[in-house]
Parts: sequence; C-alpha cells; structure tokens
Amino acid sequence: MADADTKSAKNYQADVPAPNEPFFLKGSNNLDWGMKNRLANIFDPRSGRTVMLAFDHGYFLGPTSGLERIDLDIVPLIDHADTLMLTRGILRTSIPPTYTGGIVLRASGGPSILKELSDEEIALSIDEAMRLNAAAMAVQVFIGGENETKSVHNMTRLVDLGNRHGVATLAVTAVGKDMARDAQYMRLATRICAELGATYVKTYYVDEGFETVTASCPVPIVIAGGKKLPEPEALELAYNAVQQGAAGVDMGRNIFQSEHPSAMIQAVRKVVHEGFKPAEAYEFFRTLKSERSPG
Ligand code: 5RP
Repeated sequence: MADADTKSAKNYQADVPAPNEPFFLKGSNNLDWGMKNRLANIFDPRSGRTVMLAFDHGYFLGPTSGLERIDLDIVPLIDHADTLMLTRGILRTSIPPTYTGGIVLRASGGPSILKELSDEEIALSIDEAMRLNAAAMAVQVFIGGENETKSVHNMTRLVDLGNRHGVATLAVTAVGKDMARDAQYMRLATRICAELGATYVKTYYVDEGFETVTASCPVPIVIAGGKKLPEPEALELAYNAVQQGAAGVDMGRNIFQSEHPSAMIQAVRKVVHEGFKPAEAYEFFRTLKSERSPG
C-alpha cells in the first residue's frame, strides 16, 4: 500500500521552497509553536499589535469605579478587544466561554489596597491557567520596591512553568509611589523583566525617551493606560506609545471609566491597528458617541 501511494504522489513542486518566515513578534522567533500560537491570540498578526482590555483591578481594589458590574460594564466591550486581562474569578463567573480572543490571567496577588502592595505571591497554578485556556499569565514586578526580589522570583517561577507548557508570561512593571516615572527607570525595569525571561512586558508610557525603553527591551512592550484622562489625551498616549515602538496597549480605566466605553475602545483600536492620528481617532469616538446618544 505504501508503495502504491508513493508511486501516485507526483506533485512535489521541488522548485518551490517551503516558507520559512520569521514570527511577527519581536524577540519571539525561538519560542515553540504552542507559545507562538498563544501569542498570535494576544497580538493580531496582521498589525503585530494588540488592544488588551485590562479589568483585573479588583484583585486588590475590589469593585472600583467602572467595574461595579462586569456583566453590564465589561461584557458588552469584549468583542472589541484582542485580549482580556482579568482574574480567574471574573473569567469563570462573568465572561461567556464563547469569547475567542486571548486570555491573560492575573497570576500574582495577595495584599489588598489596605496593605503593602508589593508583598505579592504567585496566585495561580499552571494547571489552572491551562484549564482556563490562558494565553499568558500576568505577574507584577516591583523593581526598586520593598519586595523586589520576591516579585522577580514570582516572575521567574511563572516563566519556568509557562515555558514548560507553552503559556506566555506578561511581566507588569509596577512603579511605586515614590519612584520617578522616567525613561531611565522604565528601561531598567523592562530590561530586567526581559532578561529574566518575560515573554512580553507591560509598562507606562513616559513623555521623554520612550523610544529608548522599547529599543532596549528585546521583547514586545505594551503600555498601561494609567489614571483616567480626557479621551483626546488617552488617544494621544496610545498613539505616541505605538509610534515609539510599543506593540499595543493594555488599557483599563481610560476605557471602562470613559463616558462611552464602547466608542472609546473602538477609537483606541483605530490608533493601535490602523495608525489613526489622535485627532482622527477622537473624531471617530465622537461620531460613535453621537450615534449612541443623539442630540
Ligand atoms: C493592575 C494592572 C492593570 O491591569 C493595569 O494597571 C491596566 O489598567 P489601567 O489602564 O487602568 O492602568 O496591571 O495592577
């Protein structure tokens, strides 16, 4: 039987080389297939970027403004996100399993807003991450903080477990209240995370020299939105970040605390994936907003 098959197979096209394309994400070429497939579920391979919707804040803040009702506030937005960043509790209780974008699970935690926030432990097992089909696990890293070594160790343990199972690790650089939010600090924090194995890193945008942060970090960087800003400023922040080398945004408050969260996330998508200028994206936001609340 094997002989007969071999004889009938003729279409080898020996003159056509097999494709050997590099993977589209910075620093990710030497990862295994499963990890790359998960990353392609976080970052859109067409633009190489992502709009992550972050709403994991309740893991230390409880029901904060804009997240009182995940079912009513967040579920209507999820189809506009490439990826959701959330806790396993909210995933199981409130997100329909029909959602097919990337899942980035909060994997560190412990202290509440009432305590020292840097005192986190790993708060998720790799079995649970895989059971919930996570593409990545997110861990807070407090460079320069009181629990710097412990938080770095949390990250490296998750990297070891994640690499064994093909699940990415997102290192979230958590800047303490007393630390300067400047490019020098962001270069230090993001580079340490990448050197110690993070698959990608989340950090804050800085006005001066952000391009040096993205240039010196060998893995993709996404930016947190931070405190709520007026919509034009938040769109400008996203624009500046991607123009200066960020692979997207992991935005929470500037979307779910917007007066029109659905219009806002769609406007952010235009900036991140289609290169809209901030003014164009704001105009798009205003159009969507007026369609929803005419007059
Ligand atoms: C909490 C986080 C948040 O997910 C992150 O800060 C993104 O949200 P925001 O855009 O509201 O800053 O990592 O520690």
